[in-house]
Amino acid sequence: MRAKDIRERAGEEPVTMLTAYDAPTARLVDETGVDMILVGDSVGNTRLGYDSTLPVTVEEMASHTAAVARATEEALVIADMPFLSYGADEGDAVENCGRMLKEADADAVKLESGPHTVELTRTLTELGIPVQAHLGLTPQRENETGLFRQGTDAESARRIVDLAREHENAGAFSLVLEHVPANLARKVTEAISIPTIGIGAGPHCDGQVLVIDEVIGLSEGTAPFSKAFGDVRGEMTDAIEAYVSEVENGEYPAEKHSHYEEELDDVY
Ligand code: KIV
Repeated sequence: MRAKDIRERAGEEPVTMLTAYDAPTARLVDETGVDMILVGDSVGNTRLGYDSTLPVTVEEMASHTAAVARATEEALVIADMPFLSYGADEGDAVENCGRMLKEADADAVKLESGPHTVELTRTLTELGIPVQAHLGLTPQRENETGLFRQGTDAESARRIVDLAREHENAGAFSLVLEHVPANLARKVTEAISIPTIGIGAGPHCDGQVLVIDEVIGLSEGTAPFSKAFGDVRGEMTDAIEAYVSEVENGEYPAEKHSHYEEELDDVY
């Protein structure tokens, strides 16, 4: 899958996107036919034990992106650029984004977007680095905005529509809309011709994205707009408890899990 294939999906069959952070999960997600795999900076909370996405480094993103890319054959792999790896100095931003394609084999990058990423989106696109924009709730700005729904009044909603247009004009191939009212997401989807990918943005987007841990039921809780489609946490707990209990009562390892070499019987 290429960014241009995704770009052409606006108004067509819904686009599916899920996060993944490691090779085995990415292989499963890819084999299931998901269109795009986002190596989200949510790796900070979901895998690295941070309280937020802010501490995630370029090295950590490159390492997780490379693992995902090695296991993915069909889906478009997108590296989420971490806090302060872009937005200050353009040269540094180009180098950091370029590393995701050159070293980690990503197909595209995602930038939590704002007025400061319009020109960067243009530059990266011109250089051959496809950009997915991200508006609405952008968690890297949590210290300024909190982790709340965005675009809830007319002025901020208009700003989001304008920024969506500007990022489309700058070359973004798709746009994530996070935690915005469904009627704003519909307006944005109508206003631009690249696909909108919603998360907590209602049903009117061209596609949807969720965090894999929430979808499979691995995380402790789910965001109110999210949905657990499985109970992997329950399955893991059951399996670990069964292991502990069988080791403690001597049931595991059984004969079939062990092997003996006859000639060793005389050695001792
Ligand atoms: O980091 C992430 O997982 C994301 C998605 C929630 C869109 O940015």
